Amino acid sequence: MLIRRPSDVLPSEITPEAVYRDRRRLMLQAGLAASAMGLAGWSDRRAFAQTTGVKLAAQRNGAFVVMDKPTSQKDVTTYNNFYEFGTDKGDPSDYAGRLRTSPWTVAIEGEVRKPQVLSLDDLRKLAPLEERVYRLRCVEGWSMVIPWTGYSLAALIRRVEPTGNARFVEFVTAVQPDTMPGLRTRVLDWPYVEALRMDEAMQPLTLLTFGVYGETLPNQNGAPVRVVVPWKYGFKSGKSLVKIRFVEKQPATSWVKAAPQEYGFYANVNPNVPHPRWSQASERRIGEDGLFSPKRKTLMFNGYGDQVASLYAGMDLARDY
Ligand code: MTE
Repeated sequence: MLIRRPSDVLPSEITPEAVYRDRRRLMLQAGLAASAMGLAGWSDRRAFAQTTGVKLAAQRNGAFVVMDKPTSQKDVTTYNNFYEFGTDKGDPSDYAGRLRTSPWTVAIEGEVRKPQVLSLDDLRKLAPLEERVYRLRCVEGWSMVIPWTGYSLAALIRRVEPTGNARFVEFVTAVQPDTMPGLRTRVLDWPYVEALRMDEAMQPLTLLTFGVYGETLPNQNGAPVRVVVPWKYGFKSGKSLVKIRFVEKQPATSWVKAAPQEYGFYANVNPNVPHPRWSQASERRIGEDGLFSPKRKTLMFNGYGDQVASLYAGMDLARDY
């Protein structure tokens, strides 16, 4: 289901114009090519269940639960950004049904003493699962409150024993050309890659995430495993992870590569630093957006300043945005 709201920032605004125009042309060509070849393509929109219905047992951790009312499960699972499946908010829930999530492995590589390839099952069992309710604030100016299931990424990091050279953690996400129609466009340089500095990755809020709303992740939310970093704009939270790499140099991340003048590496939620083309001072909470609902003031670090501000002491966050 496509939920459109009049004040939405359009993909044409998020993406530099030349890239956007090229994307429209390529999408059209991709759609035509797919139907000419008789493949399931853009024209073969498959309705599929919004949720997996597979329960994921977890203890709620009250220390990580925000008091705001959670966004409805329906909005959380149908209003998504997952450009591998298209740039409209309804594309991921419409098209991601074909993503193959089993078998699934995650490779831990780079500057670690114990590099390894873990099956999803082994990864999930590595630490007790917790339910946490986090705010998510997208760079486009909307926000949600989401009950995720997972454990602190720090538990995995400790297990694989990073070397002294590991300064950043890079998250590489899945590329499945036959299931991801968005890959035929050049809106981003695939695979979608995000990264954190080591201390950010070790911050207990950073969640290796396997579920949402008490169930395993639906494909459109990044099945079978993603990262969630609640004090940063949503694009830092890479979906459908296949590699976690420990590296010395700051990685080139997808949005920084696509539009360096607009998206910084840190991407901390910061109401005082406007996006070059719009203000970041306020946000629409999805589900609260009746005609007369006021916007909410965006909070520094998305409201997680007590936990994370010290990570950036001494940095100029207007420059390192
Ligand atoms: N991960 C991948 N692989 N591809 C994407 O396009 N979009 C990001 C992030 N992770 C994205 C991604 C953006 S912009 C946001 S706001 C969040 O996912 C949205 O997560 P949600 O759809 O589960 O709310």
